[in-house]
Amino acid sequence: AGESTLDTAAWLSERVRSALVEAYGPEYADADPMLVPASRPEFGDYQCNVAMPLGKSLKSKPRDIAENIVARLRLEDVCEPIEIAGPGFLNIKLRMPFMQEQLRRMIADEARCAVPLAVPTQRVIVDYSSPNIAKEMHVGHLRSTIIGDSLSKVLEFRGHSVLRLNHVGDWGTQFGMLILHLKDKAPGALAGTDELDISDLVTFYKEAKVRFDADAEFQTSARAEVVKLQAGAEDSLKAWRMLCTQSEKAFNEVYGLLGVDKRLETRGESFYNPRLGRVIETLREASLLRESEGAQCVFLDGYVNREGEPQPMIVQKSDGGFMYSTTDLAALAHRVGDERAERILYVTDAGQSQHFEQVFAIGRLASIVPSTVSLEHVPFGLVLGEDGKKFKTRSGETVKLMDLLSEAVRRAHTDLSSRITAEGRTEDADFVELVSRTVGIGAVKYADLAMNRNSNYRFEYDKMLALNGNTAPFMLYAYARIRGIQRRAAEKLGAGALDTARLQASEIMLDAPAELALARHLLKLADVVREVESELLPSKLCEYIFELSGKFNQFYESCPVMQAESAQLQRSRLALCGLSASVLKTSLGLLGIDTLERL
Ligand code: ARG
Repeated sequence: AGESTLDTAAWLSERVRSALVEAYGPEYADADPMLVPASRPEFGDYQCNVAMPLGKSLKSKPRDIAENIVARLRLEDVCEPIEIAGPGFLNIKLRMPFMQEQLRRMIADEARCAVPLAVPTQRVIVDYSSPNIAKEMHVGHLRSTIIGDSLSKVLEFRGHSVLRLNHVGDWGTQFGMLILHLKDKAPGALAGTDELDISDLVTFYKEAKVRFDADAEFQTSARAEVVKLQAGAEDSLKAWRMLCTQSEKAFNEVYGLLGVDKRLETRGESFYNPRLGRVIETLREASLLRESEGAQCVFLDGYVNREGEPQPMIVQKSDGGFMYSTTDLAALAHRVGDERAERILYVTDAGQSQHFEQVFAIGRLASIVPSTVSLEHVPFGLVLGEDGKKFKTRSGETVKLMDLLSEAVRRAHTDLSSRITAEGRTEDADFVELVSRTVGIGAVKYADLAMNRNSNYRFEYDKMLALNGNTAPFMLYAYARIRGIQRRAAEKLGAGALDTARLQASEIMLDAPAELALARHLLKLADVVREVESELLPSKLCEYIFELSGKFNQFYESCPVMQAESAQLQRSRLALCGLSASVLKTSLGLLGIDTLERL
């Protein structure tokens, strides 16, 4: 049957496809094998429904088709004889020795639990976080950062080469007023005699905006300043650089606390500035440009405004200025051409869906992007306040991300301290600090990732920090609890008791129903990771570990480890504990959440 891999569902799907090709010809090479997890454990592990829809096109009975497939599956090593149920469903039940061997492989590979690498691997770009200079980095950017960071980890775990890009909004007309305001407020810093001290760039932005809105003269000078900046005037560029540096400091503070991967590379809109003219040329050569009210536009079929009139994508304004979309087209050209990306993900709020649809369509029409490159917008919903309305502070201001994150850590700290006191423990300050931070930040991340990203969610501290439910604290406790069990076992039996590297498949015992249920669930890890890799939904990983912790608890309640009836059973159960811990740690790691050995 060929060497099986640990992503059993994907592997079985491939087998079903080969059987179809063998039986009915090469046109079935891409058929959907319709393999799903069995609806009930007594039906086995998987159900394959492919015979049903084929009945019509093949003009034969689904049951006969099912028989033809089964005859060609040759899965004797992997599953029990396949049962054809009802009109032609295949019930696939994995064989015990197969499961034991798969578990053995997972146990022997603590670092990646035998999750296979993708074949072939791809060059993937993940465009995420992407806040705007001098503007508030808001909760939307927080979502983008958390989701983008997790997806990058999943893709990298599967062996892909991932380039993380922070498409910072560091260019555009707002810089005219900002530079002008800076020149008035901090001439010394610009001259190089003083340090620049604008700790609060957002207030700075607001001040500049007030002046811009109130003062016609300021407005005119600001516009002139933009032109100077775009023409590359040294003093304007210097002021612009200062603003960017200052802003990046603030962003980095948030990234540091969040523990965002350091390889997230800032490559803002300004990077593509020298390439914008070329985009217009390319569009013109492809006959896609049309002038409308002095602006250069691309009209695509199917895009209309509220009045039902065609809604073009503007790529160059009548004054010659370029747009957000122009930059994105230039970025596409660079990412496909220079970076050789094969898959590009854009993690932004769902409000930008239409923007990306149009950018992608134009990129294809203008042959900037070949059909082999996959472009995917990864949209997400809004973060709402506890009241279900727009997320704001009590006084109606936008919440600063640093404040929001620190508050989560503070609450975790309060909670931990009172528990430490209640339990009469003494812990040093470093421990308390590490745990509060891991739990607080983990809670914020997990609450975001556990929701299907397409929906809006309410930001509720109490809920995300709860010790029970589908939350980070619950998972972290589950992990630490298993580590505790292992520590006690090592104390009593010696460190060798935990050494399962050379465990034989036949030594893994799955006689108790709770043992078997836990084992079956552990075996699904690779399939779940593959699903996240293709559907880009980290929530599936959260669902998986939530279910895992439930299955582990049932196992631990009904299957004694230290009091196991035999030494072999004890060894097997300890191995299941160890594997559960590794799977938890690996999965939480893919979500960007660190585990703790105890809390
Ligand atoms: N700066 C944009 C915003 O704050 C997000 C940029 C997303 N990436 C892109 N290539 N357009 O909404």
